[in-house]
Amino acid sequence: MVMGKVQVGAAVICAATVCAAAALIVRHRMRCSSRWARAMAIVKELEEKCGTPIAKLKQVADAMTVEMHAGLASEGGSKLKMIISYVDNLPTGDEKGLFYALDLGGTNFRALRVQLGGKDGGIVNQEFTEVSIPPNLMVGSSDALFDYIAAALAKFVAEEGEDSELPPGRQRELGFTFSFPVMQTSIDSGTLIRWTKGFSIDDTVGQDVVAELAKAMGRHGIEMRVSALVNDTIGTLAGGRYFNKDVLVAVILGTGTNAAYVERAQAIPKWHGPLPKSGEMVINMEWGNFRSSHLPLTEYDHAMDTESLNPGEQIFEKITSGMYLGEIVRRVLCRMAEEVAFFGDTVPPKLKVPFILRTPEMSAMHHDTSSDLRVVGTKLKDILEISNTSLKTRKVVVELCNIVATRGARLAAAGILGILKKMGRDTPREGEIQKTVIAMDGGLYEHYTEFSKCMENTVNELVGEEVSKSIDIIHSNDGSGIGAALLAASHSQYLEVVDS
Ligand code: BGC
Repeated sequence: MVMGKVQVGAAVICAATVCAAAALIVRHRMRCSSRWARAMAIVKELEEKCGTPIAKLKQVADAMTVEMHAGLASEGGSKLKMIISYVDNLPTGDEKGLFYALDLGGTNFRALRVQLGGKDGGIVNQEFTEVSIPPNLMVGSSDALFDYIAAALAKFVAEEGEDSELPPGRQRELGFTFSFPVMQTSIDSGTLIRWTKGFSIDDTVGQDVVAELAKAMGRHGIEMRVSALVNDTIGTLAGGRYFNKDVLVAVILGTGTNAAYVERAQAIPKWHGPLPKSGEMVINMEWGNFRSSHLPLTEYDHAMDTESLNPGEQIFEKITSGMYLGEIVRRVLCRMAEEVAFFGDTVPPKLKVPFILRTPEMSAMHHDTSSDLRVVGTKLKDILEISNTSLKTRKVVVELCNIVATRGARLAAAGILGILKKMGRDTPREGEIQKTVIAMDGGLYEHYTEFSKCMENTVNELVGEEVSKSIDIIHSNDGSGIGAALLAASHSQYLEVVDS
């Protein structure tokens, strides 16, 4: 067949178009695959920088133990405050009567009413109310925050039933769980060292928090004495001990993180008070402020810290706790979107909003077991307004959640090993197994199963098979509120002092 000139021309144009299209496709594929390769390089780099091999965890644990000693030796001797709680007697089960507790420490606060039955009576009755704290009050004035709390408490007290057994003529008593670093001056007073977890109210720093609360209660006509001021870790330890006599350590993994443990009073050089009869003192470590050159920190952590309300502080907390894990993942995704167009040619605007990806959402994505990672797809769409993500992309998101959660969980485990070392309970003991029970609480621990599983496995891995038989990690559900009520009971103004 002979083609005419026009036909030849058309064929040439056609072929050229096909070639150009093919070239475009190839170039597009190449661009995509190079984008993908660069995205994977970012993930790999993160994974390496967040690495927590056992040897590193042991270094972190050792550093924690060293800092514990330093913090106990002198005030200001370490980043770890090692605060003396003035709790030298943990609940025995004999506590009796009607007590209130107020639990303030995160985005919500709770008021509790507990009827304690005394020896063998247990907890006869408990009621609570939970109120969320409006974000503007977290950065407003002291009066505004405490007034808000007192108003909710007043309402709750007004609902007290006829059956509540407050003996006539007695004042109601309250245990106040205030989950921020407080320099305790006695069991029922202490001054705020600084705010954490997104709170920032300048006029409260340096103030006696019990006095602040008492003033607000006065303004709301509440007749109640604050008999115990405790950190949530102390409350959790006390609440845990009420049910299990082997509880010696409490760890909170929630919005923030912290730990408390029972120390020998003689091992606290900075304690100048009389030696308690029990010989023991509960220490609030404030481990969220731990920092060490061994911590695996990344550029994302540094940037998040610099832009935070408390730069340079709470570094351990910022890589371990619920307030921050989702934000770290967001920061990585944002870099991937900006540098390698991970979500297409434009950076999804929502991805630039700090703290938009909360840890519960990260947890939901991490736990997605559907074959097409449906939950991940929905979360990306609903929270970050990124639609039509491929399965491959979703897998990467899960991987990022895994890297960030694993680092946090394994570091928390290293912190626990540090405490066990300080207590001399990290090595096998001769003879009978002496149990060490660790009471855990906090939303991250309770709801982020991959995190808590990883943390528990890592503790076992760190201490080894033999010692792990003697260590129990238990969930002390909302133990801090009950614990505060129990401590209010054991420090009640109506307690008959029976000197033996
Ligand atoms: C606070 C601690 C508290 C912990 C857990 C930290 O930010 O400094 O006092 O125990 O959060 O709530």
